[in-house]
Amino acid sequence: MDKIKIAIAGIGNCASSLIQGIEYYKNNDDKEAIGLMHWEIGGYKPSDIEVVEAFDIDERKVGKDISDAIFEAPNCTTIFCDDVPKSGVRVKMGKILDGYSDHMENYSDNNAFVLSNEKELDKDGVVKALKDSGAEMLVNYLPVGSEEATRFYAECALEAGVAFINSMPVFIASNPEWSERFNEKNIPIIGDDIKAQIGATIVHRTLSHLFQNRGVKIDRTYQLNTGGNTDFLNMLNRDRLNSKKKSKTEAVQSVLDEPLDDDNIHVGPSDYVAWQKDNKVCFLRMEGRLFGDVPMNLEMRLSVEDSPNSGGVVIDAIRCCKLAIDRNQGGILYSPSAYFMKHPPIQYSDDEAYNMTNDFIDGRRNY
Ligand SMILES: NC(=O)c1ccc[n+]([C@@H]2O[C@H](COP(=O)([O-])OP(=O)(O)OC[C@H]3O[C@@H](n4cnc5c(N)ncnc54)[C@H](O)[C@@H]3O)[C@@H](O)[C@H]2O)c1
Repeated sequence: MDKIKIAIAGIGNCASSLIQGIEYYKNNDDKEAIGLMHWEIGGYKPSDIEVVEAFDIDERKVGKDISDAIFEAPNCTTIFCDDVPKSGVRVKMGKILDGYSDHMENYSDNNAFVLSNEKELDKDGVVKALKDSGAEMLVNYLPVGSEEATRFYAECALEAGVAFINSMPVFIASNPEWSERFNEKNIPIIGDDIKAQIGATIVHRTLSHLFQNRGVKIDRTYQLNTGGNTDFLNMLNRDRLNSKKKSKTEAVQSVLDEPLDDDNIHVGPSDYVAWQKDNKVCFLRMEGRLFGDVPMNLEMRLSVEDSPNSGGVVIDAIRCCKLAIDRNQGGILYSPSAYFMKHPPIQYSDDEAYNMTNDFIDGRRNY
């Protein structure tokens, strides 16, 4: 099989887990491949993915080989594969725009982004880098709230003719104006905002679905999340949170026959606890009424390493995107977007999205 050539914007914890995973599964055969939703997708294995270009803005990452950059502070995710060979690909200085939030200055360098003094690339520079590298798709891992920066990289992808996987909650695939531009150019796009393997969103959706199927009326719910990585630190700036809250809340509301009033649902990143590092803890509560209008409630606590949890999904999104490229299918990939993302252009139930994605992989559906 051909290699799947990807570029990445944002070499943070999620990129680290993804790149470690590509190497980790090289050394496993399919029977030992714990943690994957699909070992093979259209003949592509995880090890067929190759990172050929990378952009960041942190002085500890820019200029370094990606195999070293992924282990630099402030990255703090679990190292499950410490033997990532040199790639020969050095992280390029990207364009900062709103990727950096000033409140990070108040935290230690070990926990926060530190801006590089390298000259920033402009649009022509990023487009050229994408083209020269032979990248077929750009995976966007910028911090929440990077509205301008995400649009900048999406624009570069469009101009370079490379597909776009939008792993974070600035709406591109689910924004009709933007997705239309990918449709017009027949460039595949999957988005927005990764729905992790067993994360707060999929659990909250599944439990909501269960309540409904068992005839229990949901009255109120909350999902409080804490973590100690830079994703959570960045989200302490509440001005950056709008699209994240929207993405996470709509992911739950969309499985309910009757959406809850805004006052009765609270879903959000809740606090930054430095010592948690990349461990995310979700406290979930659901209140409802069952037979005879009798009240009940459920409390759940989920503890999970945040970044491998997204890696296990992105590794499939990348391979689905490659299938679309091989088949010359551009525009929104609705099925993979619904299965892999929290805020797709069209929401389906997780079972439907799973079946649709398998149909897409097997060539029985072309989007
Ligand atoms: N972990 C999950 O399960 C999960 C799930 C859904 C969405 N996400 C989203 O994925 C994104 C990435 O998460 P993460 O944990 O890797 O974050 P992170 O903070 O570890 O990494 C972000 C990286 O982007 C870099 N960066 C900032 N501005 C940039 C710019 N303008 N150009 C290039 N690089 C820039 C930073 O230096 C950093 O290396 C976040 O938006 C997060 O919310 C993560």
